[in-house]
Order: sequence, then C-alpha cells, then structure tokens
Amino acid sequence: SQKLTLAAIPGDGIGPELVDAALVVLNAALTADGVDLEVVQERAGAEVYRETGSALLPGALERLAAVDGVIKGPVGLPDVRKPDGTEGGLLGGLLRNGLDTFANVRPIQLRSGVPSPTTHSSHDIDYVIVRENTEGLYLARGSGVRNDHAAADQMMMTRHGVERIVRFAFDTARSRSGAPADDVQRVTCVDKSNVLRSFAFFRQIFDEISSEYPEIEATHMYADAAAGALVQNPAQFDVLVMENFLGDILSDLGAATAGGLGMCGSGNIGSATSYFEPIHGSAPSLTGTDTANPVSEILCGAMMLRHCGHSLSAVRIETAVEQAFVSGDIQLDSRGCPIAGTIAAAESIVKLLNV
Ligand code: IPM
Ligand code: MN
Repeated sequence: SQKLTLAAIPGDGIGPELVDAALVVLNAALTADGVDLEVVQERAGAEVYRETGSALLPGALERLAAVDGVIKGPVGLPDVRKPDGTEGGLLGGLLRNGLDTFANVRPIQLRSGVPSPTTHSSHDIDYVIVRENTEGLYLARGSGVRNDHAAADQMMMTRHGVERIVRFAFDTARSRSGAPADDVQRVTCVDKSNVLRSFAFFRQIFDEISSEYPEIEATHMYADAAAGALVQNPAQFDVLVMENFLGDILSDLGAATAGGLGMCGSGNIGSATSYFEPIHGSAPSLTGTDTANPVSEILCGAMMLRHCGHSLSAVRIETAVEQAFVSGDIQLDSRGCPIAGTIAAAESIVKLLNV
C-alpha cells in the first residue's frame, strides 16, 4: 500500500490537542483510501524558545523539508517574550522565511450548516486570500528601530516578491470556478496605493502580471474599502492578493464572517516545502479543557493532503466536516467552540468519513 510521511508540529497552548484531533481524522481518511500514515513529531514554538532560546530545534528546517507534508498547530505564549518585547515563540520568520513559503493561502468559506454573524448564505462566502508571506511590513521583524520618543518598522516590497505572489494568485484563480456572484474568475489586488509608494509599486506589478492572464478578470480595491466589502458584499470575491500585514488583518475579518477563526485553515506554500496551520492563535486559556474547535486544524490537514496529491482523502474530510455541521452533530457556541468538545467534534467527523 501507499505510504505518506508527515511531520507534525504540535505547538503551544491548544496546539497539541488540535493536532492530535487532526491526526486522528487524517489517519482514518487515509486508511479508508489505502494509505499508511507515518507521523514524525517536531517540537517548536514558545515552550521550546523558553527551554532553548530558539523557537526551532537545530536541524528542524532540514527535517521538515524531508517529509511529504507538514501540519502545524498554533504557537506562542503570552509570557514568552524576546528582549525587544515581541513574542519569542512565534515561528513566522523562522519558518515562513526559513522555508521561503512565499504564499500564505487562506480559503474563506462559509460552510453549509455553519452560522455566520452576517446575513449571507453559505453560497455567497467562498474566496481565497493570498497573503504575501515573506516580505511587506513583516520583513521588518526584529530590525525596526525604537527609542523612548519614536519607533519605526519599514515595509519592503521587491519586484521578485510581488511578481511571484501575484502569479500565484492568478494561478489559484485559474483552478477555481469563479466568484459566487457571477462565476467570473477574478483576482482582486488589495492595497493602499492611494497613500503609500510601496503599495503603488505592488499595484503596478499586479497590472503588469495580469496581462499574462487575459482570461481572468483583474480588479483593484483599496484595503479599507475591501474590509467593508468583505462584510457587505463578499460574493464578488474569488481570489484576493495582498501584502503580508494586510493579509493578516483581512483574513481574520474574513474568517469571522465564515463562522470564526476556528473554521479556517491555511497553507504556507513554498516552491519546495509547505506547511499548514490554523490562522488562529494558541488560546492559552483553553489549554487542556477539551473546548477549542479542531475544525481549523482538520481543514489544514485536508489542504495538506490535497497539496501532496491525496485529493481523494482531502475531499473525504471536507465532505465529512460539512455533513457534521449540516446534521447538527457539531454545534458551535457563541465563542465558536464545539458544544460537545474538541475530541467529540473530531470523532463526529471521523464517523462521517466513510459515508
Ligand atoms: C497568522 C498569525 C501570525 C501572523 C502571528 C502568530 C505572528 O496571526 O498566521 O495570521 O501575524 O502572521
Ligand atoms: Mn493573524
């Protein structure tokens, strides 16, 4: 039989519970499709930073590059800080830049049976945020300047970086069926080119690259207007491409309209290695309480399987998740946590995998 080797990074806080839950689901789905799953654990995050002074253990990048796929839980603990006050356990720079995973892919989809705080139906919220993942404002991590009177972090866009993320966004649009409103394949460039030169540069390169994809509609929206439109008129969106920091903010906004952060997975995609993680944090206060929503981590697992060529098992998982909500087997409370608990939610998905 076929074999799949994964690395699992449990992370901090609720991370280990979520990754455990996701691995149970992945294992069951792969078994149903005749694939043997082997999992190697890779410790990383705030707890590891506290112990060793680095959020990654030596050789971690090489180990992650050597497996078929990587699934990661959220990381970070509020009391684990670097000397400059930023979070010590965060792997953003180490993993995203270390593995050069330049595209952060965040599908925002309101699934049937999942309540949204908006009035939109599940059909109307179905788009992908393509967040640039290696530069933009985040490139200033650790190199900003600060004294008692002022502080600054510099935003950087490079031609190479913008070209590759914009191409990635158009390629993503090519693989999708278009925006819910009109079935038109569309990429929306989200920026503040009316204010900042770096964004004007981003938009100009977007326009250049868009001419390589004449069959896909290219549109622009300022980021503030986009924030409003994502709430008021999300059905127009298919793929959105944007700078790193904008993508961080707007993906939380989008997730909130789709049932909350606990409903959205994401992929950090590089040309060699990729890894998949929820877009939410490690929720330290929920640790060990069997409360957190495992669906984000489970959907990460499905995205990862699709990425490494196991789309049958990926569809199996996504279908089961949808059925668990439609049937009412999983119900969320006002915080977006499954009422029956983390483990029970995962188990109800496993039960539906073979249907
Ligand atoms: C995310 C997270 C990270 C980010 C944090 C944990 C550093 O919020 O993946 O969106 O800001 O990129
Ligand atoms: Mn974020």
